[in-house]
Amino acid sequence: MKFLPNLFSNNVQWAKQVETDEPGFFKTLSEQQTPEYLWIGCADSRVPANEIVGLKPGELFVHRNIANCVVHTDLNCLSVIQYAVEVLKVKHIIVTGHYGCGGVMSSMNNAKFGLVDNWLRHIKDVQHKHHVHLNAFSDPVQKLDRLTELHVIEQVMNVANTSIVQDAWARGQDLQLHSWIYRLDDGMLRDLDTCITSAEEATPIYLAAIKKLTSDMT
Ligand code: CO
Repeated sequence: MKFLPNLFSNNVQWAKQVETDEPGFFKTLSEQQTPEYLWIGCADSRVPANEIVGLKPGELFVHRNIANCVVHTDLNCLSVIQYAVEVLKVKHIIVTGHYGCGGVMSSMNNAKFGLVDNWLRHIKDVQHKHHVHLNAFSDPVQKLDRLTELHVIEQVMNVANTSIVQDAWARGQDLQLHSWIYRLDDGMLRDLDTCITSAEEATPIYLAAIKKLTSDMT
């Protein structure tokens, strides 16, 4: 192998190990895909979706972008949600942010990186929406962590407000939305308490989750 031989060598080892642990695994997997979960997370290399939740290939449908944004005009993300909900019929959509997110940090610090700044503008909108609460923090790390949490909750509401999810609930499809946050320095996930299972629940659960966060200044 001429290019990146180490990665091909890793691949051979991995495929052998999987097949040893579970003979026939790839053959079975190649014939069907029935994941129960759609993960929408950050592209950050330190937040590998399947590993974090201990799921094997075939068990998690994944969409990742910089800073786990769900934008109503992003055809890529919308297509993933549509396919996951209407074809794969996933039961859960999990938006997962992470502390120490470079995208959120860049947005808060007004850093300039070029084209990506336009994408990060969506986080700036979240910051403006919650500026009264965020400006009450004197510690920049606490402020950044809070913006990261608020951003995840706002993104799960963006998922809830898509026509795809609204239609799924309207026809009685079993679909739950969740917002989680991952800590890089200990590998732990935390639930931000926005399990939404219907259109009616979305706003009250969102408001309760925001209230719970914003009443906590630590
Ligand atoms: Co990130």
